[in-house]
Amino acid sequence: MLSLKKSNPSDWLVSQNKYQSKKTNQKAKTISVTAGKGGVGKTSVAVKMAKILAETGYKVLLLDCDTNLSNTVVKLGLPITNYFYELLSAQREFEDCLHKDGNLHLLSGCNGNIDLFNKTLEVDRVIIDILVNHERDYDYIILDCPAGITKETLTLNAYSDYRFVVVTPDKSSVTDSYSLIKILNKEFGVNDNHLLINKISSEPQYQRMVKTLSETVETFLKCRLHILGGIKNEEIPVDQFDSVLLHQENSSLHKNFVKIVRKFTDEGEGVALSTDSVFVPKVNSHFEHDVRFTV
Ligand SMILES: Nc1ncnc2c1ncn2[C@@H]1O[C@H](COP(=O)(O)OP(=O)(O)OP(=O)(O)O)[C@@H](O)[C@H]1O
Ligand SMILES: [Mg+2]
Repeated sequence: MLSLKKSNPSDWLVSQNKYQSKKTNQKAKTISVTAGKGGVGKTSVAVKMAKILAETGYKVLLLDCDTNLSNTVVKLGLPITNYFYELLSAQREFEDCLHKDGNLHLLSGCNGNIDLFNKTLEVDRVIIDILVNHERDYDYIILDCPAGITKETLTLNAYSDYRFVVVTPDKSSVTDSYSLIKILNKEFGVNDNHLLINKISSEPQYQRMVKTLSETVETFLKCRLHILGGIKNEEIPVDQFDSVLLHQENSSLHKNFVKIVRKFTDEGEGVALSTDSVFVPKVNSHFEHDVRFTV
């Protein structure tokens, strides 16, 4: 059962409102897949990365933080449940709420649950409790975040070891991702994020976006942006996208995701967490290390 007592770690963290207060010696690496903007591909990225990591041999917990509009189960073709609400209301144990497929465990959210909607819950605190209580059970914990920059989502983003900010070439997506990075920096002291550009039409477009976002974030926020890579805008019918994404291992989509995940896991240990000193790399340094966009 989840405890919401004043003395627990999440209470303390939320009250401190400080990214620097992060715990040490944790086992799982926590990754928030986030954006601010809706529909950019957060859930697609979170589910695909979780699946690749699990198939590589890592033990992975995928947490659907879109707690009442849960899409992870839908993408994975699993039954919709009210487990998340039952967990919160202490009717069901955490272990009994998970969908398990080998190394991949999923805690889905609810879908339009009226009781969850009406209940006053600090979802960020509840999810941080899950992270704290289960960090030793997994290698990676991936948080599929909802659209919007609510305090709850920002707290989860700040608490995570890594933030994968998903951006598309749409101007409003670029603006919203900058707003997210700015608030994380100003309010939570977060000064590094990972950038994944989704729905790209061409290599030059990808390069332009990397340059623009890197320069803006470094110049105005003195933040560090790690470039994960780009994913092509797939010209496939919308209702077939999930099937291609999750089941076609010979697709360029799959291969590109594998490349991105490998780049992250291979370099992951070397990616420094936030410190008090701000590191501002030269803009060009990103291009030396980025994963190339494959059309
Ligand atoms: N690389 C891509 N190429 C083509 N379509 C894509 C790509 N990535 C995602 N999509 C499509 O974009 C839509 C939104 O994807 P997804 O649900 O993953 O976004 P989201 O950011 O999680 O949305 P929300 O903000 O509603 O949670 C889906 O229809 C998905 O199939
Ligand atoms: Mg989503």
